[in-house]
Amino acid sequence: FNVPIAKNEPVKTYAPGTPERIGLQAKLAELRSMEVELPMIIGGREVTTDRRVRLAPPHEINHTLGYYYQGDASHVQVAIDAALEAKSNWANMSWQHRAAIFLKAADLLAGPYRDKINAATMLGQSKNAFQAEIDAACELADFFRFGVKCMVEIYRMQPESAPGLWNYNEYRPLEGFIFALTPFNFTSIAGNLPAAPAMMGNVVVWKPSKTAIYSAAVIMEIFQEAGLPDGVINLVYVSGPVAADVVFQHPEFAGIHFTGSTAVFQGIWKTIGENIHQYKSYPRIVGETGGKDFIFADPTADPQSLAIAMLRGAFEYQGQKCSAASRVYVPESIWDDVRERLGRELAAVKMGPPEDFTNFVNAVIDEPSFDKLAGYIERAKNDADAEVIFGGKCDKTIGYFIEPTVIQAKTPDYITMTEELFGPVLTVYVYDDEKMDETLTVLDHTSMYALTGAVFSQNRYNIEKITRRLENSAGNFYINDKPTGAVVGQQPFGGARGSGTNDKAGSVFNMLRWVSVRTVKETF
Ligand code: ALA
Repeated sequence: FNVPIAKNEPVKTYAPGTPERIGLQAKLAELRSMEVELPMIIGGREVTTDRRVRLAPPHEINHTLGYYYQGDASHVQVAIDAALEAKSNWANMSWQHRAAIFLKAADLLAGPYRDKINAATMLGQSKNAFQAEIDAACELADFFRFGVKCMVEIYRMQPESAPGLWNYNEYRPLEGFIFALTPFNFTSIAGNLPAAPAMMGNVVVWKPSKTAIYSAAVIMEIFQEAGLPDGVINLVYVSGPVAADVVFQHPEFAGIHFTGSTAVFQGIWKTIGENIHQYKSYPRIVGETGGKDFIFADPTADPQSLAIAMLRGAFEYQGQKCSAASRVYVPESIWDDVRERLGRELAAVKMGPPEDFTNFVNAVIDEPSFDKLAGYIERAKNDADAEVIFGGKCDKTIGYFIEPTVIQAKTPDYITMTEELFGPVLTVYVYDDEKMDETLTVLDHTSMYALTGAVFSQNRYNIEKITRRLENSAGNFYINDKPTGAVVGQQPFGGARGSGTNDKAGSVFNMLRWVSVRTVKETF
């Protein structure tokens, strides 16, 4: 059970003039100009079709990054067959050899592939260099390294024995195949969802978001270079409904590892329930879904740290982190000060394409997302119970740009205080200092979600009280910090209530979902 000590990959800053910045800029220029062709990877083979779909950066929609080949139901079936064919050899491979592949993948990400995975994420998903670095290079490498640590912790968990007998647990993969359905917003999550079950000996059909295909293809290239046997992870580019029709009808469907919208997850759960009689085993359903993540400040909160947490928590990666702050409760006594500081910080923020490293904010992911966000902003401009106090400009002529926008809501149940928007829009509710308790109750009741949340206070009695009062409101809770940026191995990530099954990405809790234990008792 001796494995390399898992350490978080150190984050590079990409400061002006550093070799890392020069290297990343060169890779961006290369990927921008090459018009890549991205086939599906099924059973280790490249698969093309007659449906070639153009890829464009969300911040420059007329530029062609390349093309991917879209598949249909037959490709999903072939991917399942390839997975099942690979299954026995993979499941029986010793854990050290499975682990070695993912440790090598982590080293490839942190080393020779660092620029490529970051550049593909920056261009394909419109993410700035620092946000790409903490996600695509570092967090994904962390998932692989800490995943191996979790493997060992699990295999070590054994029951007691006694003289005359020996009991032991065998941690077997699930019978069948796993379906990984992955999001656009984190390259690390997209890579971890197929990897975690595979580490535990499972085989996987992987359908990435159609808005993050470039980075998914690079992850697959890394898996292959690290020595992942053919068929263990099969990457298909098909629409969600097409994949669902084949996957959820299949008797060997053994589990889903999902990150995406609440509506899609609930639909999947229902479909699995309807088909339950035709599966060999009860499928494992592991999912992280939406959030309506909050910051709650009390009158003793430090106004400057609060303003910075609002800015970074709400607007890094254009608010498209599942963990992003989207509603803030601030007491009247400090609001003017906080508002002024927030305004000053926002005035210094630049928006534009990620190839210019001085841009903090880039484009939102696609046109439906842009239109939805622009709709909420337009509505707030016209509603009597809301006021747009910062930002509010939306422009999709070159790319899907939405200015960081702050809405002040006059009521705590104003629509942008309650609905998940998934974009650079933050809503603030200013509460009467005397009504802190009532406001906490409102906070807890206004949303069906419980992903992340933060409290800002310098009063330990209040910190304790608020932390307790909101104990079911967030799976990841922060005291005097923004609610984003969970680090693998440090803050296991996941939410409860409507936000998911809270199986904590990158932790033993999650990895245990991908094994079926056989307990053996031998009597001597
Ligand atoms: N690790 C990501 C965050 O916490 C999801 O922002």
